[in-house]
Amino acid sequence: MQESPKSIYIKTFGCQMNVYDSDRMSGLLAHQGYALEKDIRKADVVLINTCSIRDKSEHKVLSLLGELKALKKTNPGKVLGITGCVGQRMGRTLLQKAPHLDIVMGPDAIDRVGNLVGTVLKKGERVLDVQFDADRKRTYSQPSIVYRAKPVEFLTIMKGCDHFCTYCIVPFTRGREKSRPIAEVIHDVKKFVAQGTKEITFLGQNINTYGKGTPENLSQLVEEADRVEGLERIRYITSHPRDLGEDLIAQFGSISKLCPSLHLPFQAGSDSVLKAMSRLYTRDEYLYKIERLRHYCPDISLSTDVIVGFPGETDKDFEETLKVLSQVEFGGAYLFKYSPRPGTRAFAYGEEVPEPVKEQRLLQAQRLVHEILDRQNKQMIGKTTQVLVEALDKKAKNYTGRNPHGKLVHVFNAGEACVGKTIVVEITEATGSNLRGYYVDAPRTQRQIQALSPSSFL
Ligand code: SAH
Ligand code: SF4
Ligand code: F3S
Repeated sequence: MQESPKSIYIKTFGCQMNVYDSDRMSGLLAHQGYALEKDIRKADVVLINTCSIRDKSEHKVLSLLGELKALKKTNPGKVLGITGCVGQRMGRTLLQKAPHLDIVMGPDAIDRVGNLVGTVLKKGERVLDVQFDADRKRTYSQPSIVYRAKPVEFLTIMKGCDHFCTYCIVPFTRGREKSRPIAEVIHDVKKFVAQGTKEITFLGQNINTYGKGTPENLSQLVEEADRVEGLERIRYITSHPRDLGEDLIAQFGSISKLCPSLHLPFQAGSDSVLKAMSRLYTRDEYLYKIERLRHYCPDISLSTDVIVGFPGETDKDFEETLKVLSQVEFGGAYLFKYSPRPGTRAFAYGEEVPEPVKEQRLLQAQRLVHEILDRQNKQMIGKTTQVLVEALDKKAKNYTGRNPHGKLVHVFNAGEACVGKTIVVEITEATGSNLRGYYVDAPRTQRQIQALSPSSFL
């Protein structure tokens, strides 16, 4: 009798790049005959793809690992693996600390996942693979594994980061910058589009320097992607204010498929904090880039990342951060409390800003961001916007998608037939976090109208 295929469950933490890596592992393992399993308890192989960006991110992983001990006890044949950034950072130590763990591997080992799982299953050995790609070339190739059709896809086009901001673990977990050749990336874009994808977001930790050390660059890739028939929207993430050149900025005014939205982290508003973070730009240089972006694309929606409580950040420094937040009026901002990461330069500074101060600064910044967003979104009420419908939101029980500015829109009266289509939606409700409204070309049911405006039924 033929043995049934081994089943795999993958749990993902962290950034879009990790989501992409998990999809990639699923694809590679599925190609090798493994079955994908949705229930962690039933799976023969459990992989946890991890994030190390803040202390809290690592804690989540380590506590899940603790919970899995019991599962392994009742089923000793179950294979447990840690992949991703915690795997890379902790390596052998993790394998020693957790005897119930069979695999520890880093992000550069993704393409070897099949061999690693196979070694554990066939030989019963525990394996470690935290090897960075030894090839010193600035490029790398990946076998194409596009295997499904989603309207919106993310595609990693480069590895690593060369910046070494003093707080950041990423250069240690993802290694040096390397880019995939444009021809390979476009090949994958076309494969996605042939399966129904309409929007592609190119991913890289420092995307603006894509192609570094080669004759290729990001603006060339954007131009080529713009020519792919059937592709409707292009985005990329994450930009670094120092590396976002005028050529890239100008494309927001000239490339029609390039969405009018950009994530441009500023991290802190005070020049001395920026210097201590080694961000390589001043506040005024950052604001100048914003001015240029708005020059080419007046309605561009900008989002950002901010760290509060970096060592040495005074009340006055923090006020500078608040000033930038209110001056730029971002369409989205991710705010984080500084978390010391072992091995980074800032780790040696200790945690100079006390936790309650960090907490209070975080709340203050959150309040400001929320106020701005609420105001911006409320201005959308009564207006129409183009929404590329992505999927059913099971909790909200309606379909959702994003407009060109990257805003999440809940559509009350869209159906499955709308998935993958760009529809015109009239916004009728707005909160700080999302917009809600009606597909203008479809009927609105009585019940939905009632929910929208109870007074009209009195
Ligand atoms: N490559 C991107 C994203 C890096 S990680 C960039 O350069 O912007 C995403 C965000 O996490 C960062 O922008 C930063 O705001 C935050 N972050 C990184 N390290 C952190 C740390 N040690 N403590 C708190 N937040 C951190
Ligand atoms: Fe980290 Fe800085 Fe690189 Fe972003 S640019 S990944 S914050 S080191
Ligand atoms: Fe986290 Fe690694 Fe991404 S540390 S944010 S999963 S690059």
